[in-house]
Amino acid sequence: PRIAGAAVVCGVGSFSAITTINDDWDDYTNFFSQHQQQKSEKPNERIVILGSGWGGLSALRKCYGPNKDIVIISPRPHFLYTPLLAGSAVGTIALQSACEPIRALVAQAASKSSSVTYVRADARHIDVENKRVYATEDGVMDLELSYDKLLVAVGAQTNTFGVPGVQEYGLFLKEAEDSAKLHAKLLSNLERASALIGIGDHEKYSDEINRLLKIVVVGAGPTGVELAAELADFKEYDVKRLYGEEIASRLQITLVEALPRILGPFDKDLADVAKKHLMDRGVDVRTGVAVTRVDSPKAATFAPSTPRDATPEEKADALAQAKTEPIGTLVWAGGIGPRPLVQKLARSLGQSDTRGLKVDECQRVVGADGVYAIGDAALDGYAPTAQVATQQGKHIGRAFRDGVDRPFVYKHAGSLCSLGHGNGIAQLVAPNNAAINIWDVIGAPAVGPNNDQRAVTGLPAFAMWRSLYWSKLLSNSSRLSLSMDWLKAQLTGREVAGPV
Ligand code: FAD
Ligand code: NAI
Repeated sequence: PRIAGAAVVCGVGSFSAITTINDDWDDYTNFFSQHQQQKSEKPNERIVILGSGWGGLSALRKCYGPNKDIVIISPRPHFLYTPLLAGSAVGTIALQSACEPIRALVAQAASKSSSVTYVRADARHIDVENKRVYATEDGVMDLELSYDKLLVAVGAQTNTFGVPGVQEYGLFLKEAEDSAKLHAKLLSNLERASALIGIGDHEKYSDEINRLLKIVVVGAGPTGVELAAELADFKEYDVKRLYGEEIASRLQITLVEALPRILGPFDKDLADVAKKHLMDRGVDVRTGVAVTRVDSPKAATFAPSTPRDATPEEKADALAQAKTEPIGTLVWAGGIGPRPLVQKLARSLGQSDTRGLKVDECQRVVGADGVYAIGDAALDGYAPTAQVATQQGKHIGRAFRDGVDRPFVYKHAGSLCSLGHGNGIAQLVAPNNAAINIWDVIGAPAVGPNNDQRAVTGLPAFAMWRSLYWSKLLSNSSRLSLSMDWLKAQLTGREVAGPV
């Protein structure tokens, strides 16, 4: 039945939904009747997974069983393949190739469990006493759902560290929408600059053209570096071809890093290789410089960065050297921080550090029975990477499947960073005990604090990056789309149609 114009409240055992004017009513009715049937038999274990990212979906794929009702709650009905975001922002690949609909995964899991339900909503509150999670799909429905086991895999969000103006005027590279917005902004600034050049009065518009063509990437962690590399490719291969030599030569890409070096997670020698490569490709890499304010959509302030324990004099000195520069596009890749749900739960559990959920060796949230946290949402000493989230997801999925909690052991395979067309760096964990060591044969030097890792640079690292991330895609359909995108970009150039 379709019920329009009225508020409806349904309570079915441990599940209740409050919905207003809801076109999706039939879906929920089906869910309730299915649920009621099961209630009459021996109750199944209800596993609730929050998040459809690397961790949540890895758990979903391993956690199944005949007596399990699995509910996955996430505002995103797709899995976002984050390593491809930088490429999608400049049209190297279509954004759709980085977004895998989760329906196929849900159907797969459903064939092995009593029920698997996807609920498109944001979890807002977790009541650990009564084992309930509250979620909402803004303005459409509110849910209250009980759980036996709850997996918090909601990831993290961009952190602006309170730098004024970033939220208002900056762009980001964290979600699919961020990439679409950035793509649109780059194209719109190129069109404006091109129009101003076409009008002919170069003198009059010169400053405005230079401003429009100035792209600032804040933060030279792996996100900022991979984006700067993609932008350099875009400039060299596509802007020159499509907008002409003058626009390409005036397009300026600046990568700003507050720390003395770029790419913190990588060995310094490898980071230096990356820095040199970017600079050779025309990227203005500024280290030891912080963006201290985004003044408007058209200007940002840069200052020498100071350590946290700097004296007031040192801080004043840096401030005195601050310079405001015109900008066309500013992308904030300055790091990540906890989502509100995670902070709220951490606070309610009395945690002093609310950057993530404190967990024990089995990823169980300390002080919350039946609640587990993985990936970027967990405070467990591991780096916030897809590699960690995936391994933890699989581990917890198996633990849920078997009903046995086991300590999680992370196996680091290495780190890869794409530097664009045919270039990259890789820092790989490589056993040195083989009779013929392949790494010695190919001349990959030892790196890392204990010299137990190997460094690969250039084309082999780029090839590793592409083949690894291609192989890790979740479906053959995505592999096909990505292959076509890469081929198309190679043969006919990047996508510059923009959003239609
Ligand atoms: P996510 O993958 O972010 O998933 C979180 C999920 O939770 C999402 O589905 C989200 O919609 C959902 N969610 C959010 N809030 C709520 C809520 N309130 N209720 C319910 N659901 C919610 N790592 C690597 O190892 N290699 C790489 O090459 C790499 N490249 C990256 C490139 C970019 C541009 C970025 C931004 C990150 C990259 N990372 C990479 C890091 C990696 O993406 C993260 O570490 C990883 O996504 C963490 O997985 P997760 O499952 O914890 O969170
Ligand atoms: P990050 O935290 O690694 O890097 C952010 C950088 O921004 C830091 O170096 C910080 O010093 C700098 N910064 C912060 N504020 C600044 C300011 N005001 N001015 C100038 N610089 C400023 O964040 P990132 O790169 O988004 O990575 C997040 C996680 O995702 C990391 O764990 C990373 O390893 C992972 N990742 C991995 C990739 C890969 O393996 N290829 C690719 C992208 C992300």
